[in-house]
Order: sequence, then C-alpha cells, then structure tokens
Amino acid sequence: MSGSRSANRNGSRPPENGAASRGRYLRLLGLSLGSAAVFAVLFYLWGSELFPRGAGRWGGTFPFVGAVALTLAVALFLSEWFGFAGREVRKVRLAARDFLFLCSLALLLFFAAKAVIDLIAESPALGRGVPTRVYAYLIPLPAFAMVVRVLLNSETSILFTVAASVLSAAAASGSWPALLFLLLSGTAGAARARRVPDRYRMLMAGVQAAPVCAVAAAALEFSFHGDGGVLWAGVFGAVNGLLSGPIALAVMPVAESAFGYASDIRLMELSGAGHPLLVRLMMEAPGTFHHSVVVGTLAEAGALAIGANPVLCRVAALYHDIGKIGKAQYFSENQAGSENVHDAMSPGLSRAVILSHVKEGVRMAGEFRLGDRITEIIAQHHGTSLLYYFLDKAKPMIEDRKASEEMFRYPGPKPKTREAAIIMLADSAEAAVRSLDRPAPREVDETVTAIVNRIYLDGQLNECDLTLRDLHAVGRAISQVLAAVAHTRVDYPASAV
Ligand SMILES: [Fe+2]
Ligand SMILES: [Fe+2]
Repeated sequence: MSGSRSANRNGSRPPENGAASRGRYLRLLGLSLGSAAVFAVLFYLWGSELFPRGAGRWGGTFPFVGAVALTLAVALFLSEWFGFAGREVRKVRLAARDFLFLCSLALLLFFAAKAVIDLIAESPALGRGVPTRVYAYLIPLPAFAMVVRVLLNSETSILFTVAASVLSAAAASGSWPALLFLLLSGTAGAARARRVPDRYRMLMAGVQAAPVCAVAAAALEFSFHGDGGVLWAGVFGAVNGLLSGPIALAVMPVAESAFGYASDIRLMELSGAGHPLLVRLMMEAPGTFHHSVVVGTLAEAGALAIGANPVLCRVAALYHDIGKIGKAQYFSENQAGSENVHDAMSPGLSRAVILSHVKEGVRMAGEFRLGDRITEIIAQHHGTSLLYYFLDKAKPMIEDRKASEEMFRYPGPKPKTREAAIIMLADSAEAAVRSLDRPAPREVDETVTAIVNRIYLDGQLNECDLTLRDLHAVGRAISQVLAAVAHTRVDYPASAV
C-alpha cells in the first residue's frame, strides 16, 4: 500500500483518488482471476460430486464452461473480499506478494483437504467404521491461519480464514458442518498465535486450540448428523488442533524463504551473535556494533512500554546500521581517538557517504535475506530527517544557492510502523546522549525530550500509528535506560590495572 496509513476514527484509511483506486481494483481483479482459474481447474478435476449439473446443457458440448463460470465467481469473491479489506481494514496490505502467498496457502490447504477426504477416508485400513464426512474435521486450517497471523497480522488471518474456509469446504465436502468447523477452528488457531517468539509457543498455541476444535467438531456433527460420528468428530477436531503447531512450524520456514517474510522465531535466530553480518559489524565497525546493541536495548524498553513488538525492535536495531560496514571510519561512533575524516571532505561528499548507509543497508538485508520487517526498518530508520551536522557546514553553500536544505535530508520513507518509529527515536537519542560527557540523569532526560520533540515537530512520525501517549511513554522508557547506562560508566582505578 502506498500513501498515508494514518487512520480515521473508524481505523480505515483516507480515501484514494479515483484513478489510483480503479488501478488498484483492476490489478486485484487480475490477480484474483489468475488464482481463481487455478481453483477452477482443481474444482473441475475433482468437483463433479459438488457440481453434478454444472454448466447445464452447455456442459456436454463445452466441458470447460463450468470451470470458466466458477473462475469468474471465485475471482469476484476474492477481489471483493480482499479489495474491501485492503481499503478499509488497517494492516491489510494488497501487495502482490501477500496475495500470492495467501493464494498459495489456500491452494496447499485445498490439496490437504483433498488428501484428507480421499486418501485417508477411502483407505481400507484407516477409514473402517468412520463416516467419510467426519474426516473433514481433520482439514488443517488452524495451522494455516496461525502461519498467516505470525507472518502477516491478525486482520489478514481472519480474512484468510473466511476465504480459505469457503474454498476448502467446497473442495472437500461442501457441507455446512465442514464449513462452520473450518471457520471456527481457523479463528481458534489464529487467536492463540499472538506472540510466538519460539517453537514451544507455537506448539502451545495448537495445544490450546485443540479443546475448542474438539468441542466445535463434536457439537456440529451432533447437530447436523446425530450421534453416529460424534466421538470421532471430537477426536479428529482435537488431533487437528494438536497437529496445527507442528504443521505451522513446518510450513513457516518455507514461506519465509519463498516470500521474504520474517517471523519472530526467525528474528530470534537472527539475533544470535554468530550471524555473518553481525560478526562483520563487530569486527569492521565496533563503534557501530556497540551503538546498535545499545539502541536495541533502548528500543526493546520502548516497545515494552507501549505494547509494541520488543523482539522486532531489538533485532531490527542490531541490523539497522549494517550499511555502515565498509565505510566505518566515516561515522562518528567509530572515530574515537582518530581524526574526523569529514574535516578534509566537502559537505556534499560527506552527505553522499552518510546518506548511502541506508540504501546499502537495504541492499545487504536483501542479500542476506533478513526478511521484510528488518529491511523496512533499515529503510525507514532515518525517515526524511536532516543531517544537522553537515547542514551546518554547508550553510555558506546554501546561502550562495549552490545547495539546498532539502539535499541534506535522508530520502525516506518515514517510519510506517510503531516499531520503526521507536528505533528512530532510540537511535537519535543514543547518538545525542553519547556526545554528552558524563551526563546526570536529568541531563539525559532533557536531551531525550529535546530529541523526541524535534523528531515529532519535523513530521517524521506522521505516517505511523504512534499516539502522543505512546510517544511520551517511549521517550520516558528510553531516557530511564539511557540514564542507567550513562550512570554506570565509572572510571576504572588506575591502580587496579
Ligand atoms: Fe543509521
Ligand atoms: Fe544508528
């Protein structure tokens, strides 16, 4: 989604202009048609029991007519459903990558549903004595809904659950109890995958969803078909819930590497000091490495203060300045005791070197597959803020109209998420306090407040969801941690060396 993501009272986005909206809708319709055609082929191959009279008398002469009609219906469903959500529901993006990811998952679910119903139910060894319809309670939608929630967000997971329920229920059995069970079990799975920083939490989310799935399956089976298969329905519902954690854990790494997402589990892996980028940062730019670790601690404290994602803040902060690798000596944190190389450079050249660390960071994040969330934060961590130090040096050039103030701004974009905004605040606060000599806690607090105010007044937080209350809480958390860090810097007695 481009444009401002600031929300109105209902949490929806401001209206787009007509051409942009039409273009977006046409693109979405195109994507929907493509994915619907795939579903239609599948329905056409396996759906004869669902659509026995599909295409009526035309079906005999043109067997594909039914599939074409179904393509149109499914495409309309997808484009209306996701088009409406993309316009009106915050956090639902309509990037082609996300749409492709969701459709791939739905397709995988379709195959899983087909396998469950056909292979297991019709296997003489497994299917004995169990009504075929009951196997629909094994369709692993809870696992897939959990994956969508962990890799994207809760709003998208609800949308996916509804769309995938309709598609997979139609493919598997087309019955009401199956559809209702899929809707309920998918929601139950997604609801329990809130923060998943490790594999254990993912497994526990499935374990917690299992009783809900079991009760839902048993109740639906009883209300629609009597007590013949209630016990099996309950058992299958529970098994579905219990297996959702392991299935989600198996699907997630594949989705992360294919679509460039980064779950919290992946972020935790990236936080290990053994990652080649962190090793290079530590060896080639030790000052930047130390700065990044401190910014990570500050950002984590800021995130905890307002209920943002602390894992994302800490890990993205570790990588936010990787673009400085290779040019370490141009950045003040690596210049301790040596001359400032910028003294011998023109402000224009200094500007180019400093600004390039954002672009270079984004490039390296792509090369090392750090995932979309870290990459976006690297791109946004300076927003469109000014290079104040070099702007001051370039004043004579600006007065002579040989340069403009705008040239000394980072290219952006501005922070789009609360986590990116927190890292921007922590980054600037750390740099400002580092320049103070043995600051007292009050001095730290005043400096952090001045930095927070400057960033706010410069409009850098205009495109993220940070409220003024959040801003205050983040500033306070950062200044408390920074004061503690500055306070513990004591001289080591010379006699002890
Ligand atoms: Fe930076
Ligand atoms: Fe930084």
